[in-house]
Amino acid sequence: MIEEALVETKAGAATGTVAAPALLLLDTVVSGSEDRMSTGLAELDRVLGGGLVAGSLVLLGGEPGIGKSTLLLQMLLELDRGGVPVVLVSGEESPAQVKMRARRLAEGTGGLRLLPETQVEKVVASLERDSVSVCVVDSVQTLWTPEVGGAAGSVSQIREATGHLLRVAKEHNVAVVLVGHVTKDGFLAGPRVLEHMVDVVLAFEGDRAHSYRLLRSVKNRFGSTNEVGVFQMGTRGLEGVPDPTSLFLEDTEPSSGSAIVASVEGSRCLLAEIQALVVPSGLAVPRRVGRGVDRNRMAMVAAVLTRKVGLRLADQDVFVNVAGGLTLEDPASDLPLALAIASSLQEKQVPAEVAAFGEVSLTGHVRYAAQGGKRLQELVRRGFKKVWLPQRNLQEAREQGIVAPGVELLPVLELREAVKGVLV
Ligand code: TYD
Ligand code: MG
Repeated sequence: MIEEALVETKAGAATGTVAAPALLLLDTVVSGSEDRMSTGLAELDRVLGGGLVAGSLVLLGGEPGIGKSTLLLQMLLELDRGGVPVVLVSGEESPAQVKMRARRLAEGTGGLRLLPETQVEKVVASLERDSVSVCVVDSVQTLWTPEVGGAAGSVSQIREATGHLLRVAKEHNVAVVLVGHVTKDGFLAGPRVLEHMVDVVLAFEGDRAHSYRLLRSVKNRFGSTNEVGVFQMGTRGLEGVPDPTSLFLEDTEPSSGSAIVASVEGSRCLLAEIQALVVPSGLAVPRRVGRGVDRNRMAMVAAVLTRKVGLRLADQDVFVNVAGGLTLEDPASDLPLALAIASSLQEKQVPAEVAAFGEVSLTGHVRYAAQGGKRLQELVRRGFKKVWLPQRNLQEAREQGIVAPGVELLPVLELREAVKGVLV
């Protein structure tokens, strides 16, 4: 420790000989607007914040087989069709394999060029020589450089390779999209470090059992995060789903233990079904198992139901599932989650035309939910007739002049009232 400190002091003293750089007056800096390209895929554009920014570095993460290569090949084909010079660096698949996929996706492959190469110096040399505006690297885990040790895919290799690409992206104004494989339990296999290096991190998610895929922005220097794009995988690649609600509510059947959730994901509101099953537990510590909901939130909601609403959950196992494999991150899902659990315990249905949203606090109160107007709009559009919402949201809706013709808006202050009111 001490030795390190000494070395640092010496290094600091040495910098005294370096000429001090001039300071820049921010006022004199010309702010250019970002040079954005539409990818030709509306759902991808939405998640990127309006399109691909020239000279940016984007990381697309997702489990193997989710459709990363398909999505990006479609993007390249669209960009090429629009006259943008593109190249696909393919270290994972042979040119013949890429060609086979391309044949499923489009009639021809136009001017799309391929670089079957994994050594990053060679990739960089190609990007410096050839005129390219968008480059996809599939995948970053196949890249390697002789500069550092370790096999391709190791943290040091990935970091070094990305560093090279970052430089060439900025210097030559090339938008570089990196594919990164994700392991089941975490983000990119190994290098979380990449998240800090790149401008945009996108996560491609989905459920093997379903054909739709969600594209989320986890980080975006040029747009908002938490934006969601929805796609459906078909026989000819991925197709954008502009109205995903119909997808998630497809086969909902009103029954006890089911409630509708209006969750705001990025700039849009998605409706989905949340299901709960409450069964007597044989365990000393009853189970709280959730899929698509945060475990801690679920345990908290169950605890509030026990303590503040007086439900007997202490000796019951609680299982929760969000239909369709959607993952809810919106705290306003608390209220429908609580209703689903109470509904299962009491074996009383939440009527089909009823929806609710709001965050539940430990005190048993239902708190204000952001973007209430958006939620109401979507619920009205889908034909819900009664919406239970936090009192402040009702106030806000009135102030904003949000009209919901034919829809009864019921304000809730405490979770207890909502449980009593909904489950009659
Ligand atoms: P892929 O893009 O190879 O996934 P990743 O690059 O994330 O590993 O897509 C894999 C799956 O998608 C594969 O199981 C085949 C399927 N698929 C279709 O269903 N339709 C299509 O048109 C294409 C190209 C792929
Ligand atoms: Mg792939």
